[in-house]
Amino acid sequence: MRTKVAIIGSGPAGLLLGQLLTKAGIDNVILDRVSQDYILGRVRAGVLEEGTVGLLDQADAGARMHREGLPHDGVSLAFDGRDHRIDLFGLSGKRVMVYGQTEVTQDLMDRRRQTGGLSIHGAEHVAPHDFDGDAPYVTYTKDGVSHRIDCNFIAGCDGFHGVSRRAVPEAALTTYERIYPFGWLGILADVPPVSHELIYANHPRGFALCSQRSATRSRYYIQCPLDEDVADWSDDRFYDELRRRLPVEHAEAMITGPSFEKSIAPLRSFVAEPMRFGRMFLVGDAAHIVPPTGAKGLNLAASDVHYLFSGLREYYAERSVAGIDAYSERALKRVWRAVRFSWSMTTMLHRFPDTGEFGQKIQEAELDYLVSSTAASTALAENYVGLPY
Ligand code: FAD
Ligand code: DHB
Repeated sequence: MRTKVAIIGSGPAGLLLGQLLTKAGIDNVILDRVSQDYILGRVRAGVLEEGTVGLLDQADAGARMHREGLPHDGVSLAFDGRDHRIDLFGLSGKRVMVYGQTEVTQDLMDRRRQTGGLSIHGAEHVAPHDFDGDAPYVTYTKDGVSHRIDCNFIAGCDGFHGVSRRAVPEAALTTYERIYPFGWLGILADVPPVSHELIYANHPRGFALCSQRSATRSRYYIQCPLDEDVADWSDDRFYDELRRRLPVEHAEAMITGPSFEKSIAPLRSFVAEPMRFGRMFLVGDAAHIVPPTGAKGLNLAASDVHYLFSGLREYYAERSVAGIDAYSERALKRVWRAVRFSWSMTTMLHRFPDTGEFGQKIQEAELDYLVSSTAASTALAENYVGLPY
């Protein structure tokens, strides 16, 4: 088989890139090792920046998001027993859209089907080849049969554990990493959210986050030790712990109900540089991971796609390599700003092994400054809604 762009990975990055390319008339094939249902079963991000919303619209995959998504103008920081609202829209002129990654993925998959785009699921042993030359190709096995896709470019959109980054010679790659000494235990439940906006809570017992998927579906997280076993957390135990970490008015108002998803995610910051190797590009989690505290992972995948798509469109429309050559530098500039923001939110809001009473006081003083200074609140709002592309 021949195509222009072979895309490895059918997560948000691969699907968004595929749809933008298809709309621009640039052939592409998406390969994923798992099924569509498996991908749609993964509960992940929930907050979209305006830039991400705009890209979904550009890909003609935004209609349901505008009908069902929840635009949020503000967000709360809770600490020292009280709730403090950050007026995102008033301070930055932008809002965020609360709409689950599962729905984003579903909408992009639906659009791909409608436009006749080719996605191959259940592709095993996927491997990128010869991307340092002029004739790259990708091989894979399906149902015991080997296949080869010749292409002009390879987009490695295959997440942190994918094959694309690992196919790059070690000497060509520089990596930066921080692993945090805790995880997030998250649940999804069909109960009304405790507040109409998100609450990020700092508490001596650990961080908590109250998020949502709709007016009747809540997504709640609590910081937990890394070696915690989900099986030890009944719903009652989870809600009791969550309530303890929230201001009393929220704890008392919280409506609880059975969860239908419960999992633990580790927290990590990771960046691989550069993001381009000849005719292969790394996109999204394949190149970088941020801890979820700033809600940036999915949004960074989208901004990478924006830079790569504009480079590829320029290449096919004008035979110019300027955009492709600039991809890695442009993407990394924005990536590092989001890595910094996610790290600072994580550091300010979580209980670390060495936080102690002094550290707790410092975190509370930082939060107090943040919510009482217009300059500091504006800086948080500007980063949270998403820095410009
Ligand atoms: P992915 O979504 O990981 O997609 C990669 C795709 O590549 C997958 O479909 C995978 O099956 C496929 N693939 C992998 N290896 C191969 C291979 N060898 N061959 C073929 N295909 C392959 N972000 C937030 O903003 N908020 C959150 O709350 C949040 N929670 C998260 C929880 C978890 C457990 C994880 C892992 C991530 C979370 N994130 C969160 C981050 C966010 O979900 C990611 O940043 C986003 O999914 C990145 O999209 P992507 O397309 O780059 O990668
Ligand atoms: C959600 C996840 C986040 O990491 C975050 O910062 C905000 C919301 C969510 O899953 O809804």
